[in-house]
Amino acid sequence: MRKRKKKAMATEEKLYLRFSAFHRLSHFLLIVSFFGLVLTGIPLAFQGHDWARWLYSLLGGYPTCGYIHRICAGITFLCAFLHFAYVSNLMLWKGEGAKILWGVESILLQPKDVMDILADLKWLLGFGPRPAFDRWIYWEKFEYLSLLWGTIVMAGTGFLLWFPTTFSIIFPGWVMDMALIAHRYEAILAAAFVFTIHFVHTHLLPDRVPVDEAMFTGRVSGEELQHERPVQYKRLLDAGVLEAYRVPPNKTLSFISKVIAVPLLLIGLLLTSLMVSSLIIDLI
Ligand code: HEM
Ligand code: HEM
Repeated sequence: MRKRKKKAMATEEKLYLRFSAFHRLSHFLLIVSFFGLVLTGIPLAFQGHDWARWLYSLLGGYPTCGYIHRICAGITFLCAFLHFAYVSNLMLWKGEGAKILWGVESILLQPKDVMDILADLKWLLGFGPRPAFDRWIYWEKFEYLSLLWGTIVMAGTGFLLWFPTTFSIIFPGWVMDMALIAHRYEAILAAAFVFTIHFVHTHLLPDRVPVDEAMFTGRVSGEELQHERPVQYKRLLDAGVLEAYRVPPNKTLSFISKVIAVPLLLIGLLLTSLMVSSLIIDLI
């Protein structure tokens, strides 16, 4: 018994690298820009409510919030450019195109994901075992796709709102109106999605509370890897490369991740409840 406990502790202490410094930096820039955009944009969409006017003036009001919104949009463009350059480099110069588009390492949807979704539904209804996932679970792939799609929509429509006089010469008035409506409602949808769905599995699952540090420290424990992504664990173990992913703990990064992420969780949840209650009040 004691032997087994000792063995479990040893597995727990083993840490493996899941995200490189580049991915962590990109995700960090994304957090900064997304929160900046949400906090300076959402109050405009809810300007009929006291909390929104209070938040807007707290952040500097007009025109400061407009400047913050545009600077954060610039950071989003930088993230998109970095990601595009990273993927192009891997595909065109490193010859990893096939690996990015297809197979177990790809973050794009594969036929196995359809089987995983069905198996997961069966498991949730109590009719089968939990499916065994590889490096990316299907909902992580959907999150990635929704970020790609969301960025294209928000950047496109946001650009039209940024230069209304110029674009009004090119496009009819209804295009400009549609851009504002799409920007506003996609913003509410994106914020609510990130602050609920993304936050549930990165902060609020019982084994993650108060934060899943993987995107900050880049590390996951051997136990978590084995439990969450057994196919990847076994694949790396069988290929004899698992140990190459071993990394030492980083207590400083782990502490910083909590200090940054916990207040953001609270802000996100508070903002979502304010948005939802304001939408309900506006409806009735
Ligand atoms: C990525 C590029 C983006 C650009 C270029 C952009 C640009 C703009 C511009 C120019 C405005 C008009 C208000 C102003 O002048 O300050 C605006 C409004 C707004 N933005 Fe953005 N934005 C972007 C992304 C986002 C994101 C990611 C969100 C939230 C998730 C967001 C939320 C909003 C909201 C809610 C409004 C107010 C719309 C209304 O008047 O109801 N924006 N944006
Ligand atoms: C406090 C804020 C946040 C925390 C703690 C957080 C945490 C995480 C973690 C732990 C992962 C890795 C999950 C895995 O092991 O695959 C992740 C992935 C990801 N995050 Fe975040 N995140 C935050 C904010 C955001 C924001 C604001 C966005 C986008 C607007 C975002 C978009 C993504 C995407 C697209 C992925 C990759 C897909 C996935 O693995 O789920 N995150 N995040």
